[in-house]
Amino acid sequence: MEYVVEMLDIRKEFPGVIANDNITLRLKKGEIHALLGENGAGKSTLMSILFGLYQADSGKIRVNGKDVSISNPNVANELGIGMVHQHFKLVHNFTVTENIILGMEPKAGLSIDIKSAAKRVKEISEQYGLNVEPNAKIEDVSVGMQQRVEILKMLYRNADILIFDEPTAVLTPQEIDDLIKIMKNLIKEGKSIILITHKLKEIKAVADRCTVIRRGKYIGTVDVESTSKAQMAEMMVGREVLFTVDKPEKKAGEAILKVDNLSVKSSREGVMAVKNFSFEIKEGEILGLAGVEGNGQSELVEAITGLKPITSGKITLNGKEISSLSIRERINSGIAHIPEDRQKRGLVLDYTVGQNMVIEIYDRKPFSDRGLLNHKAISEYAEKIVEDFDVRAGQGVDSITRSLSGGNQQKAIVGREIELKPDVLIAVQPTRGLDVGSIEYIHRRLIEQRNNGKAILLVSLELDEILSLSDRIAIINNGELIGIVNAKDTNENEVGLMMTGIKRGDTD
Ligand SMILES: Nc1ncnc2c1ncn2[C@@H]1O[C@H](COP(=O)(O)OP(=O)(O)O)[C@@H](O)[C@H]1O
Ligand SMILES: [Mg+2]
Repeated sequence: MEYVVEMLDIRKEFPGVIANDNITLRLKKGEIHALLGENGAGKSTLMSILFGLYQADSGKIRVNGKDVSISNPNVANELGIGMVHQHFKLVHNFTVTENIILGMEPKAGLSIDIKSAAKRVKEISEQYGLNVEPNAKIEDVSVGMQQRVEILKMLYRNADILIFDEPTAVLTPQEIDDLIKIMKNLIKEGKSIILITHKLKEIKAVADRCTVIRRGKYIGTVDVESTSKAQMAEMMVGREVLFTVDKPEKKAGEAILKVDNLSVKSSREGVMAVKNFSFEIKEGEILGLAGVEGNGQSELVEAITGLKPITSGKITLNGKEISSLSIRERINSGIAHIPEDRQKRGLVLDYTVGQNMVIEIYDRKPFSDRGLLNHKAISEYAEKIVEDFDVRAGQGVDSITRSLSGGNQQKAIVGREIELKPDVLIAVQPTRGLDVGSIEYIHRRLIEQRNNGKAILLVSLELDEILSLSDRIAIINNGELIGIVNAKDTNENEVGLMMTGIKRGDTD
């Protein structure tokens, strides 16, 4: 039997959008099959159909050569299909083992015995190199381990068709390498894998074949070895993709934002997150902030935007001290913020796209006048952002924000913040979890802002992104400024070392 799964002519429509428009995907036994597509292309929908979470409007599914009707995830489980979702579904105050057996029916007459379950968890963990601690509580383990718990959960249920929905989006580079090893182990042990991703580098590293979909439509299936990244990128976005950003030489102007000896407390008692930190950003300049996650970047940004009070130091915008202004006052003075967590801080998911576009400024003219909202003005303003920033949403500005894919939500925030026409734009992980098409787009818009004389603080965990966009790079480690270097005279190695706390010129 060559194919373990065949999804044939699958169609699924949601109000206003055809998420899957007659898509075909065939998974061979023992292969890693990448499912590639931009945000919103329909990848999760297709896999949710295979896992029984959604029913297709039409089309056929065969598993091991037999026609099947997968009406719910239990049926999928019985067919040997398991899925690791984009957002994990673990209970935080339960242990690893408790999470793994959760929802399993005890076999006739037997109750589930935690001890033997933990033993089985340990065995599976060792067999596949998952390195999972059976008795740890979920709230105490890293995101990487939580994901491995989800993998173990599938294996515990004897799944041999494994679906991974964008598993690397939440991982560090080190954890990604580990996951790649794990997937290879799984294949060795006879499993077959569908890997959803939009990262070409990862497809090249693990996948055998790749099916590409675009805006709900099937584009093709290719052999990964003999297809270049550029070819796959073009299939995905429907046009040629440039992997580099064009950044013209530019002389920076006056300092716009100045941070002097800033100290900020962390949420842990008695610990400082930011220590005596100083830098400035000039007109027409992108200052990149490089660092390993959790080294004070978030607190620094929160202090500048007013989300967190400072302990000492001074923040100056256009010569005026703003250290004690409210968030709203800082926005009105010219600071815009693309936040790290777009769902928590960036958008109100139950509001429409239009409402979200004016959420910071609806009380200004022309959006309101003497306490009355001007819906026409709001719609026009929002429509312009949706158009300019290529935000794809089924019902335009009237779509409920929750229904947009992550990439489109992100484009909406970027558009909203740029449209504020700020003097300083603070962009935190502006492309996290996005596909190459959207990344290229957002990068171009950031460079454009720089060219227009804005001061930009770019905070990112992606070193490639920092290196290609920044004019200067500040490196933060353990809340301290390790140094500021010119992007032109540095490289990945040097910045990477500084991120570990080693200062430029330090010997041994
Ligand atoms: N439950 C839903 N209700 C309405 N629209 C949805 C729903 N799930 C997905 N969509 C829409 O279907 C399209 C495909 O989404 P999705 O499958 O999540 O894309 P991907 O996983 O490729 O990013 C998007 O336009 C998305 O907004
Ligand atoms: Mg998805």
